[in-house]
Amino acid sequence: CGIVGYVGGEPAGPIVYSGLENLDYRGYDSAGIALVEQELTIAKRTGEVSELDVPDVPGATCGIGHTRWSTHGPPTDENAHPHTGQAGDVAVVHNGIVENYESIKAELADAGHEFSSDTDTEVIPHLLERELESGHDLLSGLERVVDAIEGSYAIAAVRAGSDRIVATRHESPLVVGHGDDASFLASDVTAFLDRTRDVTYLEDGDIASLEAGTVTVYRDGDVVDHDVETVEWDADAAEKGGYEHYMRKEIHEQPVALRQTLSGRIDIERGDADLDVSFPQGYLESLEEIQLVACGTSYYASLYAARLLEQFADVRTTVEIASEYTFDGGRDPWRTLVIAVTQSGETADTLGAIRRAGGAGARTLAVTNTLGSSVTRETEDSLFIRAGPEIGVAATKTFASQVTTLALLAVEIGRKRGTLAATDARAVLENLRELPGAVQQVLDEEARVLEGAERFVDADAFFFVGRQFGYPVALEGALKLKEIAYDHAEGFAAGELKHGPLALVTGETPVLSVLTEGARPGETLNNVTEAQTRAAPAIGVTDGTVETDSLDLALEVSEIGHMTPLVANIYFQLFAYHIADLQGRSIDKPRNLAKSVTVE
Ligand code: G6P
Repeated sequence: CGIVGYVGGEPAGPIVYSGLENLDYRGYDSAGIALVEQELTIAKRTGEVSELDVPDVPGATCGIGHTRWSTHGPPTDENAHPHTGQAGDVAVVHNGIVENYESIKAELADAGHEFSSDTDTEVIPHLLERELESGHDLLSGLERVVDAIEGSYAIAAVRAGSDRIVATRHESPLVVGHGDDASFLASDVTAFLDRTRDVTYLEDGDIASLEAGTVTVYRDGDVVDHDVETVEWDADAAEKGGYEHYMRKEIHEQPVALRQTLSGRIDIERGDADLDVSFPQGYLESLEEIQLVACGTSYYASLYAARLLEQFADVRTTVEIASEYTFDGGRDPWRTLVIAVTQSGETADTLGAIRRAGGAGARTLAVTNTLGSSVTRETEDSLFIRAGPEIGVAATKTFASQVTTLALLAVEIGRKRGTLAATDARAVLENLRELPGAVQQVLDEEARVLEGAERFVDADAFFFVGRQFGYPVALEGALKLKEIAYDHAEGFAAGELKHGPLALVTGETPVLSVLTEGARPGETLNNVTEAQTRAAPAIGVTDGTVETDSLDLALEVSEIGHMTPLVANIYFQLFAYHIADLQGRSIDKPRNLAKSVTVE
């Protein structure tokens, strides 16, 4: 979900609305706005932000808004935020979950409160109103509400007759923007980047009071002084830049994104990576295990990276789906490095996993795209993938940047541990340096991918196969198709095809394969042939290592060692994009999915 707030000298309605538009990738099943005058004016409904009619209240210079991705209660007009209390003079928007809402609701209902939604959120304005009635002001009232609720949340509240927003957070992001005679609030700076770049990231337990041009942050009743930071991201970087979909724009941005990822981090002379992350003296040398925890695309990026870490750093490396992760207390936690890999830095499953690891005494590291995100506060150190904002729900450029960042980390750890020789490191770094160019070559071949997509758009299902580094790429290729085309797609270790999935293969199930360096192309080709024998059409990405005349469609990449399958993945992204586009799908906002899933 996304929260927006504005208080300043201008009419708040259009500003809050534009903030919601900028944030609608955070959730878009319903949206709403509350505008403050002597009374509150509220508009809310199901559907995307664009479907919301902003009330025309030019006198209101304070307002809050919300885009929702349902967790408690289906997307209905009643369940949309903002929510109000009994008397209707406070309005609240909320991200996250109030875990103890049922008992609070029962207690309030006994006291005569009536509720109009199924949400956990609605208890907040009711509680707040009760505090106001007993003499508290908005700020101390919110403080008392926070004491009563459990869970993870970001909350913003307004009151009729008062040009002031109060806000607080616990395990859910919230950032304040400082303008001239104006103050902004949002879940993410993207909301107001066109109006100010000076921001303060709120921390858990902070309670902020926003008035026009003045923001005061309190913790336990005392004023706290947080730094004002300047956001360097270009507002244009968050716009579509001429492409029909953010996803296609983001696929095409990969050479640029990868250059940013690599910038200043390759030291060819020393044969080492130069990452701004520090470990205690002797820590890496004594490391026994690395665990990567992640979800979705970040999980597949981790599978790719785990192989690099094992090879370069000679450390046992495991990858776990964050929601399945339990730290095994039997191992030596101090000698276990747990890395949370998360584009948004806000995925609740991943945050839960890294907390479990930290709680057990493991050293923790975040690999993320989002500065100031929650994961960076949960871990001892953070490594940024620098891909720039990604708006399309289906992750593309961040996958490439995640793998690349982790490849650099694998080099650095390998060098420190003495398991990767300088000459070998140099070869890896050279390959990384060639990566943006190799990706550009694939992008230049997009027309061929479109032809392939036109040919196979009506297929019954798509199977992706690969070995070694090609295996996570097969999994990720299938995920893209599922997410944006809603077609049945599966990724398999190529060798496993014959152990079951081959029964699904027909003339209507194209098999897409990674036939490059780093993916055992010869053996994989044998598996592809087994599928072709059962009439399956075959599409393969090749670097020329094996003879591919037998394929129905061969797509070429340059060979750049371990990173070659990562380049092959770009073809799979384009393939999924065009299959989905030909079917007229909602590519940037696939049904039922959200960019950032902040519930476990
Ligand atoms: C959601 C998104 C996926 C993403 C996953 C993990 O499910 O729809 O595209 O891969 O979250 O997100 P993260 O921000 O943690 O990388």
